[in-house]
Amino acid sequence: MHIALIGATGYVGGEFARQIETRGYRLTTIGRSNCDIYSVDSLSKRLTDVAPDAVINCAGYTGKPNVDACELDKMNCLSGNAVLPGVIREACESLGIPWGHVSSGCIFTGTRDDGAGFTESDTPNFSYRQNNCSWYSGIKALGVEILTEAQKCCIWRLRIPFSNFDSPRNYLSKVQRYENLLESENSRYLGRIENAPEND
Ligand SMILES: NC(=O)c1ccc[n+]([C@@H]2O[C@H](COP(=O)([O-])OP(=O)(O)OC[C@H]3O[C@@H](n4cnc5c(N)ncnc54)[C@H](OP(=O)(O)O)[C@@H]3O)[C@@H](O)[C@H]2O)c1
Repeated sequence: MHIALIGATGYVGGEFARQIETRGYRLTTIGRSNCDIYSVDSLSKRLTDVAPDAVINCAGYTGKPNVDACELDKMNCLSGNAVLPGVIREACESLGIPWGHVSSGCIFTGTRDDGAGFTESDTPNFSYRQNNCSWYSGIKALGVEILTEAQKCCIWRLRIPFSNFDSPRNYLSKVQRYENLLESENSRYLGRIENAPEND
């Protein structure tokens, strides 16, 4: 298995890279430093040269120190989280390569109208279409909308990732460093056991 990883320099991408290598898969990293990833032609050419079995996109603009900063850098947020997935989609579909896109659970807020947690097929309710979303969440929702009906595409919606190494993006690091912690329900158990496959 040979995986081309876009965004390997980030927190989430770094963890994907570690997992890929731990599993003994071949890894090729692609990013802004070695490819014009916003050009369908350049990205397609790079992918043709690399010839991966799959592509994983972990690139995305998250703002520093946190997503609130996206309000001050709207263009970067738009390009990294909505334009880029569309370009990767076009390149991967033209070459028939399966790919995965790291999105975010922040495109949902609260619970469904029936009080249940959201499922994969629910429409984001924290977007420009409804509720008063942040720029980051609205753009992440747009980035998913751009992938509607995408072929051979898997979307992962992370919410609060944590891992066993220190990083400003690691929830466990944040809990130890932040002066104030928000106590609030962030996501709800989906309660979809009836339909879930045994290994879900
Ligand atoms: N960390 C979290 O808590 C969290 C939670 C939910 C979802 N996510 C999602 O996970 C993905 C990765 O987040 P992360 O925490 O790993 O962020 P990160 O540590 O800031 O890494 C961002 C990655 O994306 C690239 N990047 C940044 N801005 C870009 C832009 N405008 N255009 C193209 N590439 C850009 C960076 O590459 P360079 O080296 O070129 O800068 C880097 O590889 C994002 O899509 C984010 O929305 C993260």
